Amino acid sequence: NKEKLALLEKKNQEALLGGGKDRIAAQHKKGKLTARERIHLLLDEGSFQEIDKFVMHRCKDFGLDKEYYLGDGVITGYGEIHGRLAYVFSQDFTVFGGSLSETHAEKICKIMDMAMKNGAPIIGLNDSGGARIQEGVNSLGGYADIFYRNTLASGVIPQISAVMGPCAGGAVYSPAITDFILMVEETSYMFVTGPNVVKTVTQENVTAEELGGASAHSVKSGVTHFSCTNEVDCIKHIKSILSYIPQNCEDDAPIYPYDLKEDESRKILDSVIPENPNHPYDMREVVHGIVDEDSFLEVHKNFADNMVVGFARIAGRSVGVVGNQPQSLAGVLDNDASVKAARFVRFCDCFNVPLLVLVDVPGFLPGTDQEWNGIITNGAKLLYAFSEATVPRITVITRKAYGGAYDVMNSKHIGADLNFAWPTAEIAVMGAKGASEIIFRKEIAKSDQPDEKLQEKIDQYTKKFANPYKAAHRGYIDEVIIPSTTRQKLISGFKMLQNKVDVLPKKKHGNIPL
Ligand code: COA
Repeated sequence: NKEKLALLEKKNQEALLGGGKDRIAAQHKKGKLTARERIHLLLDEGSFQEIDKFVMHRCKDFGLDKEYYLGDGVITGYGEIHGRLAYVFSQDFTVFGGSLSETHAEKICKIMDMAMKNGAPIIGLNDSGGARIQEGVNSLGGYADIFYRNTLASGVIPQISAVMGPCAGGAVYSPAITDFILMVEETSYMFVTGPNVVKTVTQENVTAEELGGASAHSVKSGVTHFSCTNEVDCIKHIKSILSYIPQNCEDDAPIYPYDLKEDESRKILDSVIPENPNHPYDMREVVHGIVDEDSFLEVHKNFADNMVVGFARIAGRSVGVVGNQPQSLAGVLDNDASVKAARFVRFCDCFNVPLLVLVDVPGFLPGTDQEWNGIITNGAKLLYAFSEATVPRITVITRKAYGGAYDVMNSKHIGADLNFAWPTAEIAVMGAKGASEIIFRKEIAKSDQPDEKLQEKIDQYTKKFANPYKAAHRGYIDEVIIPSTTRQKLISGFKMLQNKVDVLPKKKHGNIPL
């Protein structure tokens, strides 16, 4: 028996070494952690339970019958994060460059199936040279098995992908289907085809970092939701996301202890809106003024900055915040902002996270670029996402709510539960100047003093429509509130809505305009 135990110990030690000491040293030299070190950082101390540690590949071609590594390039298992169950797979670049073989894929699928059956999040730590080239179609089949499971799991359990090294070709589509992608600056990249193929096909000269690094995907494409300064920062972000969300679609997000004060008003909110309605301000100031201290986790921070989205807590309860950002492009809705917000709204609705929508929107961004890139379809995504959301939904209009964008931004008409407006709200078809130039065009043209006439009309229109009261008279706004009381209103509003039940018409699934 001693010998048998010794054999087990030997195998365990061998598995821990992955592709060997030299390759581990090479991994560290690149500024990267090993697959096991990453798991160690991610999971609560001592909670990791490994599965399939001794799995090996079955390929006999191209010399692979002489090269085997226990675990086959991916470490899989489960453990706890802040005391809550989570499943994890972590690709080991030291074994065949973390490339995905048939068995490597089977290990990932096994852990995904467990996560689904037991209703807990799955976290993928990706660091891989892609399909194991020696295995051909077996490896491609393995990818498809994973993509299929990612799709079935979508909306059932949260799926989070961290990209901590290469993630190229077909490999990108698993993270792409998951809920959140995090990338590490300088050491990770994602692309469908790499710089060499790009050069051959389009003659473009581009580095891997330029083409698909964390910066490219957080700023330009929006593929990644978080660009992290290093791997430790990346893992910190994964844990932080999980702290706001439930284990599965039938669960509720964790509630953090919070001692409600007698006075939850925030005076700062009374002075956020500038005197001049055309001057910008930072919607993040409003967010910070409303939510629990230091609780705002911004998602997609570097992408479409005319829209701010992220998780926060109000009196210890999770909310998803969606807000126009007047500081960037005056807070207009454009293609990127619409898609960014729509995706976030759908995530929150899948996982029972109530929505807080902060509105200061002058309309949709005009122009050929926007129209030809589908602002009609993309704006409709956001409209659709809000309309079908059954979670508690509260809107606060801080200033402008113009035109179709008023409807889109979680208006009463599309099912919002509570709609508040600040006294500075302007709810109208468009701004007073634009409106006056259109409806009083003839009168202004005939006038001896057209500038004065225009101003007179602007003042007239402003008085009539640049306020929240027309909408409040109709009940489209439930209450016009003093800004400093917003937090209190939201605490009681979300509490009132905590047992909300809303059911969509029976259907197979809707057809969101993609
Ligand atoms: N299949 C099999 N083995 C692979 C592999 C793959 N897809 N990708 C990398 N490896 C192996 C390498 O042969 C090397 O093995 P070794 O340690 O025995 O020498 C090891 O993984 C590390 O790769 P290396 O190329 O030395 O690392 P790098 O950091 O310099 O480059 C990549 C990383 C991913 C850019 C590079 O390995 C690469 O281009 N791989 C192929 C990508 C690809 O075309 N994949 C298939 C399509 S999805």
